[in-house]
Amino acid sequence: MAKDNRSAVRLLLFGASLREGSMNDRLASLAASVAEEKGATVDRASIAEFECPSYDMDVELATGIPAGANALRERLNACDGFMIASPEYNASMPGILKNVIDWVSRFRPQPFNGKQAFVMAASPSMTGGKIGLWALRQPLEHLGARVYPDMFALAQAHHAFDDAGRIADAKLQQWFENTIECFIDLVEASKHYPNLKKQWVEFLGERPDDETTRVEMGDTAATT
Ligand SMILES: Cc1cc2nc3c(=O)[nH]c(=O)nc-3n(C[C@H](O)[C@H](O)[C@H](O)COP(=O)(O)O)c2cc1C
Repeated sequence: MAKDNRSAVRLLLFGASLREGSMNDRLASLAASVAEEKGATVDRASIAEFECPSYDMDVELATGIPAGANALRERLNACDGFMIASPEYNASMPGILKNVIDWVSRFRPQPFNGKQAFVMAASPSMTGGKIGLWALRQPLEHLGARVYPDMFALAQAHHAFDDAGRIADAKLQQWFENTIECFIDLVEASKHYPNLKKQWVEFLGERPDDETTRVEMGDTAATT
């Protein structure tokens, strides 16, 4: 049920598996329908739209940042928050996802800075891909995204969905919905709190150095 007094919140949402029939894509679709029920506007994307060649600084200098990364930048710039359903590959995130994060990080202003983020995973394992989500937090938080503390990891995902695409365990489905609603509340609050500062210093704590230091303020931030 959407909150009557919800003000506009726009979320970018995609699964990070290229595979046809991906369980993470199913989880992303379920999250999209829940987010819409809770009053958000959803931009449902596919990781295939953001596919890039392997990061190479020579390529960047010669031909610029590829179209897939630019597509993700534009979609990030247009949203208030984003949600990713990522497979766990060898206790980390898939290479395609890390690669596009690396490319997008080259844009200035830096598109992840100050964005609210929610990460989730689906896996046939008993841990649901949670270890990969801890890995995914690192580059996102490094880049200034505000990654929501609770991460949803759907264990034994090959048995977890019902025929309608919902989580068959009613209690787990309810927790999933409640968590997404809490995340949307935070996105809404962060969007509308007028004095929120979003300074990003790439290596906060290092002695400032004009050659290497990268500092940005998010778009709602006051300058200091
Ligand atoms: C290269 C590779 C590594 C994998 N590593 C893990 C892993 O570390 N943990 C895990 O839970 N599942 C792992 N899996 C299994 C995936 O969770 C499973 O293939 C899942 O279906 C992938 O997500 P998808 O259905 O969205 O494509 C791995 C799969 C592949 C292909």
